Amino acid sequence: MSEITRDVVIVGAGAAGTTAANELRKAGLSVAVLEARDRVGGRLWTDVIDGAMLEIGGQWVSPDQDALIDTVAELGLETYDRYREGDSVYVGPDGTSHRFTGEMFPVAPETERVIAELTERLDAMVAEIDPDRPWEHPNAGEWDSISWDSWLRAQTDDDEAVRNVAFATGSAMLTKPTHSFSLLQSLLMAASAGSYSHLVDADFILDKRVVGGLQQVPLLLAERLGDDVFLGQPVRSLEWSGPSTGSGGVTAKTDTMTVRARYAILAHAPVLYSRIQFIPALPRRQHQLHQHISMGFVIKVHAVYDRPFWREQGLSGTAFSPYELSHEAYDNTNHGDERGTLVGFVSDQNADDVFTLSAEERKERILESLSHYYGPEAKNPIVYYESDWGSEEWTRGAYAASFDLGGLTRYGADQRTPVGPIHFACSDMAGAGYQHVDGAIRMGRLVAADIIEEARA
Ligand code: FDA
Repeated sequence: MSEITRDVVIVGAGAAGTTAANELRKAGLSVAVLEARDRVGGRLWTDVIDGAMLEIGGQWVSPDQDALIDTVAELGLETYDRYREGDSVYVGPDGTSHRFTGEMFPVAPETERVIAELTERLDAMVAEIDPDRPWEHPNAGEWDSISWDSWLRAQTDDDEAVRNVAFATGSAMLTKPTHSFSLLQSLLMAASAGSYSHLVDADFILDKRVVGGLQQVPLLLAERLGDDVFLGQPVRSLEWSGPSTGSGGVTAKTDTMTVRARYAILAHAPVLYSRIQFIPALPRRQHQLHQHISMGFVIKVHAVYDRPFWREQGLSGTAFSPYELSHEAYDNTNHGDERGTLVGFVSDQNADDVFTLSAEERKERILESLSHYYGPEAKNPIVYYESDWGSEEWTRGAYAASFDLGGLTRYGADQRTPVGPIHFACSDMAGAGYQHVDGAIRMGRLVAADIIEEARA
């Protein structure tokens, strides 16, 4: 059992934790980052599977994500554009695939009108939402008490329009069934990216990738911390006392380490707070609050081919359908790679369903779905891999966490409130960049700034 003393102990070496640690070090505070896994990065994980480099976790960078863009540039990393030449594909309710260009799906004119009108209204509502304080909107209570699905269905009887508008924040972002979260949660998701139109614009939201993989961001940040990052150290207990200023402090214990510090930052998904024994227990408010947050669930599917064959058919690789098992898919070919990679996503209840199948049957079903977009060749990848974050003990879902119906107005304002010397930072509680690496970096910076200010007081 080793014992060390630092100003701040940080639990989690993801983008939030490694950012906070660097900011604190720059301000002259000493840190120890305790990471449960044997690797840095959390939900950022670039690995080679059967000879193919895959982004098992997060990968895309969009133009509004200043905090991430600055960090990527400051670390000297290069970015490249997602391939997007040619037609996109949409599969309609009758299973027929249609090619299209631009953002509007090739639907009947009346459905197109309804989608356009709903998008305009949602953009206007989102413009009124402060992503850092969505609960302060005058209609927040009402908007948090109705499910995203119910609200949309109250606006129109056009099922295809509802499905297409719903899936941008449902299957594609919060990765939960659209009846299980509120209109307000959906508006927050859109506000965190600037507008609802941004979320539905794949060219915007899935704009760039980092050459060599996005995990390099936390890896390079951790490298700067040298020996202050400790891997394979799940924090089991956190003793804390007093207010954050004055005589308070924390003692974090793993199986082999004890870290005494003035402050702690829990820099991981809020669903994992209950894995730590707090001594004394956290206050009533946190006990309640944390039970109303849960992870979404999506399988990220990687299929690598000897060449990007869809490009030969004039397809960009961008494909959507609220009727397909894989509701969206993209060309995910690596920078400079001759092979072609497709990435598809199977979300929420569809993901539950395919996990009742054998691995072989699941693969067959998912590739069958991809073949509806790209033709039969999609059924024969040379490398196939499913990112299953639901099985990862130190994450438990994907992409991130969100509140249940009513939770945002009831508890949202307290999510980031420190408890004595314990502070909270994670992409899952960000305003701008919510559920994204950008949000993790923003939260890491914010919490570090708060601690620096307190420590100087
Ligand atoms: P994160 O979960 O990354 O890090 C927390 C760390 O804490 C983990 O390393 C964990 O092991 C550790 N930990 C937990 N409990 C602990 C304990 N008790 N003791 C010690 N350590 C503990 N974003 C984006 O911007 N673009 C994208 O394209 C995507 N796509 C995407 C795909 C997939 C499949 C996933 C899963 C996620 C994305 N995301 C994304 C989301 C993005 O990856 C995510 O929001 C951030 O990486 C989260 O960073 P954090 O540091 O907040 O948490």
